[in-house]
This record gives sequence, structure tokens and C-alpha cells, in this order.
Amino acid sequence: MTQTLSLRRPDDWHVHLRDGETMNAVLRYTTRQFARAIVMPNLKPPVTTAALARAYRERIIAALEPDAQFTPLMTAYLCDKTPADELRRGFEEGVFTAVKLYPAGATTHSEFGVTSTAKVGKALEAMQAIGMPLLIHGESTDPTVDVFDREAVFIETVLQPLLMEFPALKVVMEHITTEEAADFVSADTSGRLAATVTPQHLIFSRNALFTGGIRPHHYCLPVLKRERHRLALRRAATSGDPRFFLGTDSAPHQRVLKESSCGCAGIFNAPGALQSYLMVFDEEGALDRFEAFASVNGARFYGLRLNEGRITLQRHPSEVPEDIFLPGGGAIHPFLGGTFLPWTLVEQGAESS
Ligand code: DOR
Ligand code: ZN
Repeated sequence: MTQTLSLRRPDDWHVHLRDGETMNAVLRYTTRQFARAIVMPNLKPPVTTAALARAYRERIIAALEPDAQFTPLMTAYLCDKTPADELRRGFEEGVFTAVKLYPAGATTHSEFGVTSTAKVGKALEAMQAIGMPLLIHGESTDPTVDVFDREAVFIETVLQPLLMEFPALKVVMEHITTEEAADFVSADTSGRLAATVTPQHLIFSRNALFTGGIRPHHYCLPVLKRERHRLALRRAATSGDPRFFLGTDSAPHQRVLKESSCGCAGIFNAPGALQSYLMVFDEEGALDRFEAFASVNGARFYGLRLNEGRITLQRHPSEVPEDIFLPGGGAIHPFLGGTFLPWTLVEQGAESS
């Protein structure tokens, strides 16, 4: 049985680092594990311009621990009226790595998102021309669509037509949750479609939302789905297919805001992220495919260099903290907080270049 695993430093291709006090409290959990991360732009107000992204990147860098080696990769929040030129300039100047498309109203802080893809044709055309990836929150916002069907309906009604209209646009389906999404990505032959997968969608089905009562800390969007979907995601993530890669969607919210009559969506999984993914790969007998999923596939898709440093994990239980306390009061409860995961991150090697 493998006891020690050494791998290239991994990246997180989807994370919410927030801002201010919350960012200061959560940032270290991402930077201790990952060399780079795609940082989501759904702040209030959202990161819609290159100037806002540059300023946000500076705030992240200023908040890093002194010995941290971490590169935040910034994204633009796409609005109906985002000028194509703003995206092109931001990308060419190295401020934006990608663009995030939230269907308006689909999730947390998405109210300024896209009301119809017809409205953003010029932006998508420009992105296609320069190879700038589009990261999609793939859920239908039609209120008549059942919440558990929103991803599958989005694929048929929005994603498929969009991919046909922009045949060379690079697209990442973020945080896929269904067998339909996994199959859709696997069936693509164009080579420009990929998907991120979160730990929670690999570990839990929707039953977890209702085990012994309502469990707000298991609520995120897209919501957990039924067991057959979880199994399909596990097959896809551990298959070795380079189109599937790590993206935690770590999304911290204070306990009081989740444990409420209208609790917000988002799971803060950064503290045990690598260990929880690794547990899944171990259970699936796919430890040999973990490095590709965590440290190679995403970088290749984005056309970025692979990290040089290495990390070591040991088969030895580590506890996920029960709570992360904020200096101004309040706490954030991490995914699997208060439980032990079978692996421990023991060592981070420095970047050699
Ligand atoms: O559960 C979620 N939380 N899904 C999202 O798409 C956004 C995120 C957040 O920002 O809290
Ligand atoms: Zn997200």
C-alpha cells in the first residue's frame, strides 16, 4: 500500500478567495496547498475590468504569508455590456487569465451576470480569436426548471448552441455535478472543452443535504445530485482523461449566514482540499492518476507551464479544523471540519525556477 506520495505542486482551477477580513482568514489554506489558483471575480462589486482585477490581485499578494509562493490567476466577471476590448486588453497585458460567465441570478453574487449569451457575442468572438478561456457556471436560470435538472438543461439549451456558434472558443464547464455533464465533456472531439470537479461532488450525493435534518454546510450551487451522478463524476475525475481537472470551488461563508432560514450557497473546502481529493483517488484505486488531475491537466488546458516544486503527502490522518475564526467575530465552518482525513500534507518543496 502506498504510504507516501510525492507530486508536482498542484493548482486550484476554481476558488473564491473573497476580500478583506475573510480573504485574510482563508487565503493561507489555498496557498499552503496550491501554487496557483484561478480566482473567481464574484466580489461585491464584481471584478469587471482589468483595473479592478489588477487591484484585487495586489490585495491578494499583499495578504500572502511571507514565505508563500503563490500566483493568483485573475478572471473577469462577464456582464451583458462588457466591452470586448476590455477583455482583450486585460488578457494581452497578463491581468486576466480567463473570463467567468455567470448566468444572471444563477448563484451567489451573480446578479450582474449574463442575461442571454446573445448579448455577449462580441466578447466571445474576441476571446475565441485570442485563445482566452471562458469559464461557465452551467445552470439554467429558467425558474420552471427543477433545481436538480438545471445543469443538464443548461447543456442542451445554452452550452451546445454556444459551442456551435464559437467552434474554437476554449470553454471550461466549472464544477460539474452530473453524469450528463461528464458525458458531454467526454464526448467532445474538438479539444477545447474541459471541466473542473469539486471534492464535495465526488464525496457526497444529495442525501448528505438531508441526513438527520437539513445540513446547510453541504449546500452549494450547483447543488449535490443523486448517487449515479456522483459515481459518474468519480469515474471521470479518476479516469486519467486530461479534460478533467481539480477546481475546488472553495466558497467561504460565515456560519451565521449558512445556518439561517435562507442559508447561502457555498462550501469552504480549502483546508482539506488535497486530502479530500486524494481520499477519493485512493478509494478508486487511482493514486497513479492523481498527479495528472491535480497538477498537470489544468495547466496544459490553459497553456501554462507546469509547476516545478513538489509536495509530499503521507498516509496518516490529519484533522480538518472545526472552525476558522474571524478577527472581527464570526466563524467559517470548513467542509468535513472536525473530522479526520486519511492523508496529511507533510512537505512543500520550493519552486526551482
Ligand atoms: O455554491 C456556490 N457558491 N456556488 C457558486 O457558484 C458561487 C459560490 C459563492 O461565491 O459563494
Ligand atoms: Zn465558484
